[in-house]
Amino acid sequence: MNDRARPPDPDELEPIETASRDEIAALQLARLRSTLQRAYGNVAHYRASFDEAGVDPADLASLDDLARFPFTVKDDLRRDYPFGMFAVPRSQVIRIHASSGTTGVPTVVGYTRNDLDMWAHLMARSLRAAGARSGDLVHVAYGYGLFTGGLGLHSGAERLGCTVVPASGGYTERQVRLICDFEPHVIAVTPSYMLAIADEFERQGLDPRRCSLQIGLHGAEPWTEAMRHEIETRFAMMAVDLYGCSEAIGPGVSVECMETRDGPHIWEDHFYPEIVDPETGAILPDGEMGELVLTSLTKEASPIIRYRTRDLTRLLPGTARTMRRMQRIRGRSDDMLIIRGVNLFPSQVEEILLEDERLSPHYYLEVRRPRRLDELTVVVEAKTDAGDEATRAAAGHALADQIKSRIGISSAVTVSEPGTIERSVGKARRVFDLRPED
Ligand code: DLL
Repeated sequence: MNDRARPPDPDELEPIETASRDEIAALQLARLRSTLQRAYGNVAHYRASFDEAGVDPADLASLDDLARFPFTVKDDLRRDYPFGMFAVPRSQVIRIHASSGTTGVPTVVGYTRNDLDMWAHLMARSLRAAGARSGDLVHVAYGYGLFTGGLGLHSGAERLGCTVVPASGGYTERQVRLICDFEPHVIAVTPSYMLAIADEFERQGLDPRRCSLQIGLHGAEPWTEAMRHEIETRFAMMAVDLYGCSEAIGPGVSVECMETRDGPHIWEDHFYPEIVDPETGAILPDGEMGELVLTSLTKEASPIIRYRTRDLTRLLPGTARTMRRMQRIRGRSDDMLIIRGVNLFPSQVEEILLEDERLSPHYYLEVRRPRRLDELTVVVEAKTDAGDEATRAAAGHALADQIKSRIGISSAVTVSEPGTIERSVGKARRVFDLRPED
């Protein structure tokens, strides 16, 4: 490990990062009470949904009582598009972000001055947990704009006292040039785009392992341990998992601490996590896999109460911090494919294909139903040095065999020429479901 990527000294941490579970719970309860009151008093949707469920913020005597309050889903936020969910007058909202909204109406999130301040603070805490320090140069290749990635990392890095390069996504040739010329220590970018940058280094005849990067903060899309290994090997750097969603705040809900890298620690002083059964909504105990539900504890403009993220994970006890961890996200429940009755996440295929030296991490899944039965095709690029057509065909057969034996699904695998799968500059699209709607 190099000297820049070092864990923080205990006295560099905020007291709450090492507080006892009782202290954390007491803070959460006080903050939860005022959040529920603010939401009920100022947002028509929450007033109506609490009334309908017969609950009053004054009923909250313990954290467990939150279970009596109704969930919030993405459609609730969309229904009040654009500003109906704000809990403060629009004039107090000094920034707006919105979710990608690839399907239909985007969800809008507002930030007051205090919200932006809290977010910058949490992102600075996240960067420090990942090993960044004041004085580091931070290259931000998440998109800037309505997407929260670019500006979220940007303000956190500034707050920590870093030098920020706001590269945004895209112009991959230029990304490589900036990295070579400015010599950043830290990069913040989606894992899939990080690998596109690695490819571009190699296309230019440069060795990514010799560049200055030491720490990567990767998130905004599901990725696997195998993908982490790929990034760390190709860049000779440390890759940490950064999680968040715009409805909660953006990046900075949770992050892995560099000293353990065992799943992101949730900043529980600002977000209260629950895991529920995705089908029934019943609360599951820590350790069980289910859907992550988030409640904001300090947000002013866009408080969220029991927001169903659709992300599947489990809560784990704290290690490097006393706050709880979440396991790396398995996938989104809406990305889960059910093929002939078998559940499949793209990440399961990713794990298997990255074991094969001949295959690259650029892939997608296509599902069709030409007659009555679902058919899965995995399209994956060969590595540049994968050899001739026969070698590629053999790699394809081997992958199909592994998918069949480990997941139980028959698939056709197409191993395409290097560079033929379109690179995303942000979130990679892994699933094309071309089945007719029932
Ligand atoms: O993706 C915020 C973000 C930006 C997080 C930069 C990390 C880094 P949205 O565009 O609202 O916000 O998308 C949120 O992305 O519900 C997950 O499905 C997925 N996601 C985010 N981080 C991770 C991660 C940003 N580390 C949605 N692992 C979430 C897996 C992630 N999935």
